[in-house]
Amino acid sequence: MRVTVVGLGYVGLVTAACLSEWRHRVTGIEADRRRLDDLRAGTLPIHEPGLDELVARNHQAGMLRFEDLDAMPLAVNRAEVVILAVGTHDGNGGWQTETMRRALADVVPNLRAGTPLVVRSTLPPEFINQLTDLVAELRGLPKPDVPVLLNPEFTQEGRAIVDFIRPSRIICGVAHDPEGLGEARLRRIFASAAATTPFLTMPAIDASFSKLGSNLFLATKISFANELAALCDAYGARIDQVVHAMGLDSRIGSAFLGAGVGFGGSCLPNQVTMTVKTARVAGLLTPLLAAVDDINAAQPGHFVNRLDQVFSGRFAGRRVAILGLTFKPNTDDLREAPSLATSRLLLERGVHVVAYDPMPRAREGAVDMVSGLEVVESVEAALVDADAAMLVTEWAEFAAIDWRRMHSLMRHPVVLDGRNALPAEEMVALGFTYSAFGRGLMAPEPNPIGRRVPTASAASEVA
Ligand code: UDX
Repeated sequence: MRVTVVGLGYVGLVTAACLSEWRHRVTGIEADRRRLDDLRAGTLPIHEPGLDELVARNHQAGMLRFEDLDAMPLAVNRAEVVILAVGTHDGNGGWQTETMRRALADVVPNLRAGTPLVVRSTLPPEFINQLTDLVAELRGLPKPDVPVLLNPEFTQEGRAIVDFIRPSRIICGVAHDPEGLGEARLRRIFASAAATTPFLTMPAIDASFSKLGSNLFLATKISFANELAALCDAYGARIDQVVHAMGLDSRIGSAFLGAGVGFGGSCLPNQVTMTVKTARVAGLLTPLLAAVDDINAAQPGHFVNRLDQVFSGRFAGRRVAILGLTFKPNTDDLREAPSLATSRLLLERGVHVVAYDPMPRAREGAVDMVSGLEVVESVEAALVDADAAMLVTEWAEFAAIDWRRMHSLMRHPVVLDGRNALPAEEMVALGFTYSAFGRGLMAPEPNPIGRRVPTASAASEVA
């Protein structure tokens, strides 16, 4: 099929590349000139494992083309399906629908009658409820003469290609599709995955809440795990054991119960915060989600406070290494990354913060986003002379660190593990004071090696 994808960010580029891999003829439209030139030259604006190869192969084969806004009218007019994947974030933890409105104004008048318009961006529910009227208005008709659908994506950054090619479910949200033509085309687009994947057709507002509900629940699981970890810390229990035992109950499962410095990224934090805010405007209270939001927002502060015990409150002049800047491994995305809040809090307390991330683009971005942050090019450069290391992102590179050697490079062997990613007992056996969410604080001295003590009573002071 001929498909036009408008917007080539995380969602749009992955969609365009995967659809071209499925032998659809895809035209990707990108408004940002630099991004477009880069794409045409084979440089991707985002890091996503496997995406370079997919884009290069299909671009060379002529199955995937990149065009600017001038080419949009023709690309939309020739398409059998048009997918909108423009950004809906205001960059400040909120929604913005301006970009979507502009894209609709550019796209909708150019659609041939009957060509389905598929919205893949995540939008606030009230916007979804207005979508059909907006399209009708732009077509100059009382009712749209094109199907209007929602097709939310559930891809995780870092594994977006796999998630797209083998989705857990395909959702066809119907805003306007009286004859079912839109649904039929969407089924054809996803034909390669259809045999193994549930295809669910439902009203657009339900589709929108399926996406929102999934993300809100995942966020709730994480904040629950973080609250549980705080209880484990207070009573000397070990979160790993607790979550493992809980997860064996098939009603619970162990996914997304990883305690740590909190959830970041483009979806989870923004969608929790905005759901709470917009519900409040609508006169609705969402105390559970408000708590999920509060718990998450407080995690970087709790992380920094864990240093209180080792520094005895004397932060000024300390050197702290931040390991990992991206909001999770295998991406270059810094949006709502807990590393940023953690670094800012340390800087406010007079700490010299030295950060390292394996992803060069994240290193460059973080310097611009956190004033006073020093960014270095290797783990070693971050750890040398450090009074403490704080692991914020569980990159595989950090699990492979030769901590025995780092012990001699650091000024004080103190490691705070914000993702429970390091082997606690081994770290302590190597002579590190080690602290993590739900693992308490473990120190070789004055406590016997490996003995866990409730965080509240533990102290291993650094001179
Ligand atoms: C999320 C949803 O998972 C995905 O389905 C949706 O399409 C987009 O939003 P993503 O933002 O890529 O995906 O990241 P995800 O893997 O969900 O992780 C989000 C954050 O939660 C990360 O900062 C991660 O470190 C954190 N996290 C995840 C935890 O703190 N604990 C966990 O157990 C899992």
